[in-house]
Amino acid sequence: MSAIGRYLSYYGKAITAYQVHSPAVYDFIIEVMDQKREYYKFGEIEFLRELYLNSKDSIPFIELGAGSKKLSGNTRPIAQIAKTSLSPVKTCRILFNTVKFYNCKNVLELGSSLGISTAYLGAVDDDIKVISLEGNPSSADIAKHNAKQLELSNIEIITGSFADTLMPTLNKMKQVDLAYLDGNHSYDATIEYFDKILPYLHENSVIVLDDIYWSDGMLDAWKQLMQHPTVTYSIDIYSSGFLFFNKSMKSKQHFSLIENWKKIWQIGLFSKVK
Ligand SMILES: C[S@@+](CC[C@H](N)C(=O)[O-])C[C@H]1O[C@@H](n2cnc3c(N)ncnc32)[C@H](O)[C@@H]1O
Repeated sequence: MSAIGRYLSYYGKAITAYQVHSPAVYDFIIEVMDQKREYYKFGEIEFLRELYLNSKDSIPFIELGAGSKKLSGNTRPIAQIAKTSLSPVKTCRILFNTVKFYNCKNVLELGSSLGISTAYLGAVDDDIKVISLEGNPSSADIAKHNAKQLELSNIEIITGSFADTLMPTLNKMKQVDLAYLDGNHSYDATIEYFDKILPYLHENSVIVLDDIYWSDGMLDAWKQLMQHPTVTYSIDIYSSGFLFFNKSMKSKQHFSLIENWKKIWQIGLFSKVK
């Protein structure tokens, strides 16, 4: 299916806040989708993003995920990574709100890249522990440097392939309150990571899958996970999908929320590198 086809399949189902009757989803719209809420760390983090967007340097690069639709080679300009691989500020704010609203203390991220989304996750509060996994050593070094620079001592970046680092990390964490899956955007990998993380979740955990409409494989993975017996409700905001396990929902429900009208004009113009 083309990118426009995937967008239209989302748009056909999407509803606005005025059509929502579920209190849980209404809360999500008010508390999580709010991108206007300011926090002092946002400016500091975005200052770093801006530095990388304007960087003239390149770093060694190992392709570990589903791969870039646009880039290849053994080195990559930092500015290209910053432009194409990082979650946009809007998604980062939504992640921050998610951690805050659902009171997540044990946060796992798959795919730190330069550590920008990682910083948003860690900025919520000092008593949150964020463990972020990154397979590209040069990116991981930058992410570590950023956490230090931002004085976010609650962030730990673990370098290595998810195949080697995910299980030891889960065993160390014991419980995952929020998992942000933002690396290796393929069907098989997404299902595999979900299955591995599942035993560490509890009723109030949240899984956020990035870029569920990025490819047919990601959309298939999202549709399959929405139907997973442990998932009680799911919310699709196009850029990401949220899976909830809260048993207070009487029957399994799925919601596609309209994010932004302008988005339709962006399809095909921007696609994030995995
Ligand atoms: C989309 S980027 C992450 C962006 C970051 N979360 C942000 O928004 O600021 C995905 C990252 O996952 C890493 N990655 C992909 N597949 C991986 C794997 N199998 N093992 C380890 N790292 C992987 C890539 O090196 C890349 O840096």
